[in-house]
Amino acid sequence: SPSGPLAGKHVIVTSGPTHEPIDPVRYIANRSSGKQGHAIAKAAAEAGARVTLVSGPVTVPDPAGVTVVHVESAGEMLEAVEKALPADIGIFAAAVADWRVANAGGQKIKKKDGALPNLSLAENPDILATVSRRTENRPPFMVGFAAETENVIAHAQQKLAKKGCDLIVANDVSTATGVMGGDSNTVHLVTASDVETWPTLSKAEVAKKLVERLGAMTGDRKP
Ligand code: C5P
Repeated sequence: SPSGPLAGKHVIVTSGPTHEPIDPVRYIANRSSGKQGHAIAKAAAEAGARVTLVSGPVTVPDPAGVTVVHVESAGEMLEAVEKALPADIGIFAAAVADWRVANAGGQKIKKKDGALPNLSLAENPDILATVSRRTENRPPFMVGFAAETENVIAHAQQKLAKKGCDLIVANDVSTATGVMGGDSNTVHLVTASDVETWPTLSKAEVAKKLVERLGAMTGDRKP
């Protein structure tokens, strides 16, 4: 059986953006690359965990030794996460679209002279909050991410409470920092009682350190 700080644990990781269809050929998306989430899935597997990675559409390859479930939309991502339960740890790094198109069509929207299509939006489920608030099969340790452009720590503390998770990994994604799509990350670990700021590290190093920390925080109980 595997050894390492997460040996015997099942870890569910979400990663990447979601694509919300407008019609069969168009979608709403965001600039998430999936690099950080995929690096975390890889590091968790290397730390001995059984890992289910639920990934939105990304160009980064599936990490070795990980069960990958590929999804497109937020609705599909929530469904795949719930299907993967139970788990010991949830690490939800995906940049889930906040809204989907409520009136997405089954046919390509045609361009008409002067007439603009009307897209109406509906709110997507908050996957992190939904899973963190489950009464049944809530993973005992839930980690969320907070991409902020200002007041990073204060917003992370609010997010921790709002979502009901145990740890928020907060990062500054103001464009000058190049975090989104880039290879390095400067993060703050925010819990109900602590704030810890790490130096700028590669996303692989952030993943490895986070996994080590999660091993320490969740103890060495075997399920
Ligand atoms: O609210 P905000 O999008 O800033 O929260 C970010 C955190 O919540 C991330 O961990 C992200 O994966 C998660 N999230 C989610 N489902 C959503 C929106 C965000 O799981 N619909």
